[in-house]
Amino acid sequence: MTDIARFSDEWIEYVKSSVDIVEVVGRRVELRQSGQNYLGLCPFHSEKTPSFSVNAERQFYHCFGCQAGGNVINFVMETEHLSFPEAVTKLAEDKGIPVPAVSKEQQRKEAYRDQLRQANELAARYYYRNLRSPAGERARAYLQGRGITETLARDFFLGYASEAWDGLVRFFEDEGFDPKIAQAAGLISQSKRGYIDRFRGRLMFPICDHLGRFLGFGGRSTKEGQPKYLNTGQTEVFNKGYVLYGLNWSKDEVKSKDQVIIVEGYTDLIALFGAEQRNVVASLGTAFTPAHGKLLKRFCSQAIIAFDGDKAGQRAALRSMEVLYEAGLQVRVAELDGGQDPDTFARTHGADQVQEWLDGAKPFREYQIDRIISQHDVETREGKLAASTELVSVLAQLTSQIERDEYVRYASQRLGVLERSLAAEVREKQGIGSIKHVHTRRNVKNMRPVQVEAGDELREREIIRCLLRQPEHLRDLVEQGITAHDFYHPDYRHVFVSLCENSSDPEGTAIASRLLSLPGAIPGWEDCVGSFFSVLKKRRLKKIEEKLSHLENDRKGFDIRMEFYRLLKEYYDIFITES
Ligand code: UTP
Ligand code: MN
Repeated sequence: MTDIARFSDEWIEYVKSSVDIVEVVGRRVELRQSGQNYLGLCPFHSEKTPSFSVNAERQFYHCFGCQAGGNVINFVMETEHLSFPEAVTKLAEDKGIPVPAVSKEQQRKEAYRDQLRQANELAARYYYRNLRSPAGERARAYLQGRGITETLARDFFLGYASEAWDGLVRFFEDEGFDPKIAQAAGLISQSKRGYIDRFRGRLMFPICDHLGRFLGFGGRSTKEGQPKYLNTGQTEVFNKGYVLYGLNWSKDEVKSKDQVIIVEGYTDLIALFGAEQRNVVASLGTAFTPAHGKLLKRFCSQAIIAFDGDKAGQRAALRSMEVLYEAGLQVRVAELDGGQDPDTFARTHGADQVQEWLDGAKPFREYQIDRIISQHDVETREGKLAASTELVSVLAQLTSQIERDEYVRYASQRLGVLERSLAAEVREKQGIGSIKHVHTRRNVKNMRPVQVEAGDELREREIIRCLLRQPEHLRDLVEQGITAHDFYHPDYRHVFVSLCENSSDPEGTAIASRLLSLPGAIPGWEDCVGSFFSVLKKRRLKKIEEKLSHLENDRKGFDIRMEFYRLLKEYYDIFITES
């Protein structure tokens, strides 16, 4: 959580201009000079022919295969999983550039935090030894009963806090460690009789940040009753909203698989590691925060939520999905039956079955739809109506038209209603009929930038120019299902939204007047629409092609093949009407 404000823009620029991107990239990627540029195999996706290029003059990299790109700082952030300030600091240190001194106040704070982390690390060592001492016998038996092997216990640095009131207090005393610091770290507290331990009679799970620094603990009672888990309270270094249990152990695997499995509990994570899944993190019994999402996005682009099968677990999954999706992750949900959690599942199934279960994780929209349907008796007319009302509000939120079409089809099949009818209701809900609220600006702003091909850009531009001249055609277009998301170029999307909302803002007005003052006659409406729709078709074909090639390589069963043939048919339908 280093703050970016720490460095001035000038200093960051100075570091950038002192390093050579070719040299920095060259340490990781074998580069061959080719004219202005250097070429190599992309480190961000696997490929056999080089499409990764580094431009020495403009000091940036770009991959024509996966569209990764950026400057030297971005490269270091991506390849070494560092935050922006961490990456700049590393580049500066490598070059021997002095890193600006942080303010005295910041230095003092950081030194203090270091002491708290040190207290946690010392305590972790103390608990670790305890577990392996005679006092830890019952706790060891408990672990054995839960199928946590000695190796796993060692890997996760598990420990034991004995029943004594002041075991840790005395340990710190012997070490000559300041009890005030241990107290601030949430390890001991002050009572009338002096300091006492916070954790007693508990199995201890040390919690680290992704850099492996000790921040706090989760302590599980080895008996029934009491609060089952006691965690470190909020301290200067421990904040549940930022930390994810296990990331320090799983980050390399998360990065290399480009996928993270998210569970609710410490024991779920450990059991999954035991079943050869090593790309796991656990939330600390709290809801997922945007900070969690951002942290994970630094390491991967796909998340599988594997929460408990009970109602609470399902609700938590639904909430977390949205947060992760907002962070830009692709989200799937691996479901479990009522009484199960990933821990029990992993311990009662073989590694292959665990893998199969995770492979079968549902895209989160599908999960949402299935959940709504399972909550109603859709065999009855009332049930069907109630379910469809809920489905319509979920479907109407989908901002990508392609995604919306897919899930309208899916939901109508599941519900046993006509696809057309459901689609019409969704459109109505979206207010498309009334043109007014097609898409709010917020939705549009959140869209990820998309690469626009030059010819396509021209067609987007011409239809917008035409609309500016003849806004009466807008309704026609909207009724055919066109939304802001069909415009990949941000300027044209902006104007389209303004037109739909019948609003104006300085930026939109400026773009519109620039478009209208361009030389060259604007083609007729029919021509513009025709060209624009062929662009949309081409994009749709491309998306299907991508999915097909993905499915081709998938070794799964019947459903997948059905989907494969369905897409293939759709592909040819579009293809034939196109040619
Ligand atoms: P669970 O109740 O699912 O516990 O809570 P668990 O992980 O399955 O534990 P076992 O298997 O019964 O030992 C999931 C997580 O919620 C937090 C903990 O982080 C726990 O791992 N939690 C739970 C608490 O913080 N306090 C509690 O009292 C219970
Ligand atoms: Mn459990």
